[in-house]
Amino acid sequence: MDTTTNHTTTPETASATDKRATSMTAVVRHRYGGPESIELDRLDVPTPKSGQVVVEVAASAIDRGVVHLMTGLPLLIRIAGFGLFRPKQPVLGSDVAGRVVAVGADGGRFQVGDEVMGVADGAFAEYAVADVDKLVLRPSNVSVEDAAVSTISGITALQALTAVGRVTPGQRVLVIGASGGVGSFAVQIATALGAQVTGVASAKNLDNVRTLGAVHAVDHGMTPIDEIGSTFDLIIDIAGRNPLRRLRRALAPTGTLVIVGGEDGGTITGGTGRNVRAILLSMFSRQRLTAFISKESTEFIEPLAEMLADGSIAPLVGARTDLAGVADAIATFDQHGVAGKTLVRLEGA
Ligand SMILES: NC(=O)c1ccc[n+]([C@@H]2O[C@H](COP(=O)([O-])OP(=O)(O)OC[C@H]3O[C@@H](n4cnc5c(N)ncnc54)[C@H](OP(=O)(O)O)[C@@H]3O)[C@@H](O)[C@H]2O)c1
Repeated sequence: MDTTTNHTTTPETASATDKRATSMTAVVRHRYGGPESIELDRLDVPTPKSGQVVVEVAASAIDRGVVHLMTGLPLLIRIAGFGLFRPKQPVLGSDVAGRVVAVGADGGRFQVGDEVMGVADGAFAEYAVADVDKLVLRPSNVSVEDAAVSTISGITALQALTAVGRVTPGQRVLVIGASGGVGSFAVQIATALGAQVTGVASAKNLDNVRTLGAVHAVDHGMTPIDEIGSTFDLIIDIAGRNPLRRLRRALAPTGTLVIVGGEDGGTITGGTGRNVRAILLSMFSRQRLTAFISKESTEFIEPLAEMLADGSIAPLVGARTDLAGVADAIATFDQHGVAGKTLVRLEGA
């Protein structure tokens, strides 16, 4: 992601614009911190650089990445380019659904008026810039709300299962963190691809996990993953931070582990040492142990949009808010968890 902000640039690269507002309401922060560090403010409407468009945002979503970017933790995020001492991008939010209102040079196939979904830079605002290679046209039978909550978590789940996990029909797949943003998509996509899914979540979310398509739902408070009673061809580890030795006991002798994430891994690296150890260990094992960073690209957004359009997946939306309620919604998500995604719906959009 380009972490520089376009909020003060002039519109010389815009080749097509409509008569839109010059200022907008946005969820803004100028330092890393908790939900108390963010506020509603007025900003200039961003302008598109080459290869970008401006989207009038109809809806966005909260996911774990929003919390990481808000707090600047783990610290690795800051070194990765999001701002060492303060955030480079004052506006939070990545998931987006809305209408194109300005097209920069090299705006690709997009035109003013196109309804789109994908990834934007600073989507908790009335307008946001987006790279054209992170947007697709929103299928006409996919609602703004469903489109807005799907991209970030959905493409992560899709890549974990397909490009990285190489899932095949009939495989036994274990999804750890099955009730959350990424997990709720992983259960549905794996099921749609013909896998037999076991989902791990807390007791209160087991019904949700079954409704999403899991054949078995396991309470992580009751049953450790290596005591479920079977081994798995593919484990998608999204949450829980199980030690590698336990993950490997739950994995078939030639199975594949895909580490997506997991919290409580420490404030410096977020526990990425586990990912590195897995990759190194994989060289000496018949088990394939992997970890990856999701690629934000139309290569994955297109097939995700198709799955939404043909009804093979439907997002689980556990909470919703407007721009003014984003800080409270992030606090609820962080402290209590939310089943599936939290929708951010802009009033009147
Ligand atoms: N690799 C990448 O590129 C990438 C991309 C996106 C996200 N991520 C990472 O993936 C992780 C999940 O993101 P998310 O947005 O899906 O977060 P999320 O919505 O908070 O989902 C996490 C889920 O994990 C469950 N959980 C908590 N403790 C657990 C345990 N001990 N065992 C099993 N499940 C447990 C929670 O459900 P219950 O309350 O039901 O337990 C929660 O719903 C984060 O660490 C995030 O940073 C990585």
